[in-house]
Amino acid sequence: MSPLSATAAPALAPGHTAPGLDDVVAAETVLSHVDGAAGRLILRGHDLDVLADWRFEAVLALLWRDLVPEPMDAAGIARALGTAREEAFAIAAPLLAATDPLTPVEALRLMLAALADAATTPHHVLAVAAVPVFAAAIARRRRGAAPVAPDRTRGHAEDFLAMLGGDAPSPAAVAALDAYLVTVADHGLNASTFAARVVASTRAGLFSSVVAGLCALKGPLHGGAPGPVLDMLDAIGTTARIRPWLVDALARGERLMGFGHRIYRVRDPRADVLKRAVAGLRDRGGRIAFAEAVEAEALALLAQKKPLRPLATNVEFYTALLLEAVGFPRDGFTNVFAAGRMAGWTAHVLEQERTGRLIRPQSRYVGPVPAARPVSRAPE
Ligand code: ACO
Repeated sequence: MSPLSATAAPALAPGHTAPGLDDVVAAETVLSHVDGAAGRLILRGHDLDVLADWRFEAVLALLWRDLVPEPMDAAGIARALGTAREEAFAIAAPLLAATDPLTPVEALRLMLAALADAATTPHHVLAVAAVPVFAAAIARRRRGAAPVAPDRTRGHAEDFLAMLGGDAPSPAAVAALDAYLVTVADHGLNASTFAARVVASTRAGLFSSVVAGLCALKGPLHGGAPGPVLDMLDAIGTTARIRPWLVDALARGERLMGFGHRIYRVRDPRADVLKRAVAGLRDRGGRIAFAEAVEAEALALLAQKKPLRPLATNVEFYTALLLEAVGFPRDGFTNVFAAGRMAGWTAHVLEQERTGRLIRPQSRYVGPVPAARPVSRAPE
């Protein structure tokens, strides 16, 4: 018998374990608040539906305000991001070939990890600037196209689409992507933000912290969900099949993609903002109208099936439609999520570095304990 299995596990540490940390408050933040009961998302004193009309640069100014030594307004941030996108483009070029065997999010992880702590551009600016540059170059390489250089005179969302498609994007597409980036900019202490704060608490630096955030986002339980919404729409196929397909899926005990949420007990406020943004886009092939018909039928069936458990549309449903409509490939959606969430990650890292303490929780040992060791005597 192994000495380690010899003794039953005693409860060594008193206290309550909380797998998933659901009810643990692990940080104080001025950045965002998710009110699941009321269906509100508040970023620094502003409801999301108000911020939905702001540009991404203005939301960055809000989130970074008083956390950085030299605060900038939205126009200053737009200029700084433009210059930093050019810096990121130079970093990306020699790395692209190395990303060929990787998935798009692994490729983004590799490129973000190449940002050097010695960079003189403010790290929060360079991190936000880099994601669209890297994500667009990665998406283009997968379709055999050369990367398109950034244009510092463009807004952040506009340049992201231009670097992706190679042409000047439509104002409607730019407005929709801007709304998306704002909508996902921050969302309380989600797994990736917590991961970024843990690394920041060790003083490892902003780039290492946001790479940790991306690693957490990569998981299908966090940032990997919008693709399956499109898979579901494809599987349904035609308007006539909507109801029977959904009825069959629910009868098999399957979950309908894009519905339900762990925290929101009413409608996810981000779904409404994105639904409005999608409404401004051209509905190629009737995809959006079809998805709205699926949504209406799914909500009716879910209400029938689970009358006591509100299951409403979540952020992923309209994210999928929006990102598809503005031209992103399905396997690159997580990278676009990272482009928006980088706003929150950088702000949380800055906040953690200024106000936080090393994050070092305890574990409760539940394994076996070896028999007490004899006290060794010093030779006489
Ligand atoms: N379709 C059908 N039934 C559902 C759905 C759904 N989308 N969501 C929950 N239910 C049912 C569950 O089967 C469960 O039924 P049961 O009590 O008979 O077992 C009941 O509702 C409660 O489900 P929970 O698992 O307690 O709900 P939870 O809040 O933990 O789950 C989650 C939230 C994971 C988002 C879930 O609703 C789901 O799987 N949705 C589909 C996937 C999806 O859209 N993911 C993206 C989420 S948004 C984001 O991550 C940013």
